[in-house]
Amino acid sequence: MRALTTLPLFRKSMLGLAMAGALGAAGQTQAGEVEVLHWWTSGGEAKAVGTLRDLLEAEGHEWKDFAVAGGAGDSAMTVLKSRAMSGNPPAAAQIKGPEIQEWGELGLLGNLDSVAEEGNWEELLPGVVSDMMRHDGHYVAVPVNVHRVNWLWANPEVLEDAGVEMPTTWDELFAAGEALREAGYVPLAHGGQPWQDATTFESVVLSLGGSDFYRQAFVELDEQALQSDTMIEALTTFKRLRELMDEGMPGRDWNLATSMVIEGEAAMQIMGDWAKGEFTTADMQAGEDYLCAAVPGTDEAFTFNTDSFAMFQLDDDEAREAQKTLARLILEPEFQQTFNQIKGSIPARPDLDMSEFDRCAKRSMQDFQAARDADTLVPSMAHRMAMRSDVQGAFFDIITNYFNSSDMTAEAAAQRLVKAAELAM
Ligand code: BGC
Repeated sequence: MRALTTLPLFRKSMLGLAMAGALGAAGQTQAGEVEVLHWWTSGGEAKAVGTLRDLLEAEGHEWKDFAVAGGAGDSAMTVLKSRAMSGNPPAAAQIKGPEIQEWGELGLLGNLDSVAEEGNWEELLPGVVSDMMRHDGHYVAVPVNVHRVNWLWANPEVLEDAGVEMPTTWDELFAAGEALREAGYVPLAHGGQPWQDATTFESVVLSLGGSDFYRQAFVELDEQALQSDTMIEALTTFKRLRELMDEGMPGRDWNLATSMVIEGEAAMQIMGDWAKGEFTTADMQAGEDYLCAAVPGTDEAFTFNTDSFAMFQLDDDEAREAQKTLARLILEPEFQQTFNQIKGSIPARPDLDMSEFDRCAKRSMQDFQAARDADTLVPSMAHRMAMRSDVQGAFFDIITNYFNSSDMTAEAAAQRLVKAAELAM
């Protein structure tokens, strides 16, 4: 939600609206209805969110769908902002990471403490997840899942046809790329959209710099890290990946890039495990019809991305009841199990039986725990988990401009990152 923070103005108008009592406008929703803003519109995503709608309806409440297409939620956040500006936010919205705090500061979010207490969220959730769900000590959001971002996906038939193995280093990846090209495939499926560029870039940074460096650069916004030789090397490697992509990439949606791997047109894709939702929806089996591996050089680390729903204040009792029911259902085992198997993520609560999950999800759960123990768990910059939304927006612009520019050097891009970080201080 770049837009939110551009705006002292936005903040002012929101406070004005709140004072005018306009907040209650969300209560115009009918009793027992929850309007839910989300950006889950690809095949796998839509199927996954359908499980939540079904569970809510089974409790006698009404689900009003407010889906805004666009990977990683940039468009959804713009739409949410304008709905909030007009004093009519939805009851629930997919808001994540530090943005939960930004909305909390505006005083618009409802209090979920009673649901959290009854459901024992404090015990169930890893601290790294529950901390993000609270504003000013109170629960205002509920986590849905944990996605891992630093994954590499591949079509094994395509790899085999080109005589290459799943690459474990960048050198292997570039060498495999040449063989794949010669065999007539696109080595790496990609969609040229800022968030997809950033998704690839953050994994390269993690790979070349390690988790401490990643945190210095993307969480602490440390100037030395941002202009270091490691960052220059990461920018250079990231740009080189263009060699492996195809000319059709500008503007392509992420799920269409995944389809290229599914169809055997492309060999691999660097993408978070929501890509697994597309493989699963295409009836493909993990480890057989498609492969998952950590992005080269990131085996020991885990870039996490937790989806969550923040709840807006409502003044209608029944609507509030429906909203609380939604929050409760989200952390119950039934939803966590069914939704996450379809979505490609792992449950937000680590206590659940994973035996029905596929091997990539099992590995994700293991790696998540191992990364927590080894302190190599890092928040995704590209997926709104690491930094304020205005800084993230500036980083996206720089990363994409650099990736698409024919004359911007890695050094110049690094300097721009430093400047963007300075603005945040
Ligand atoms: C979200 C995922 C979603 C993906 C693509 C990510 O930021 O966390 O739930 O599937 O974007 O839209």
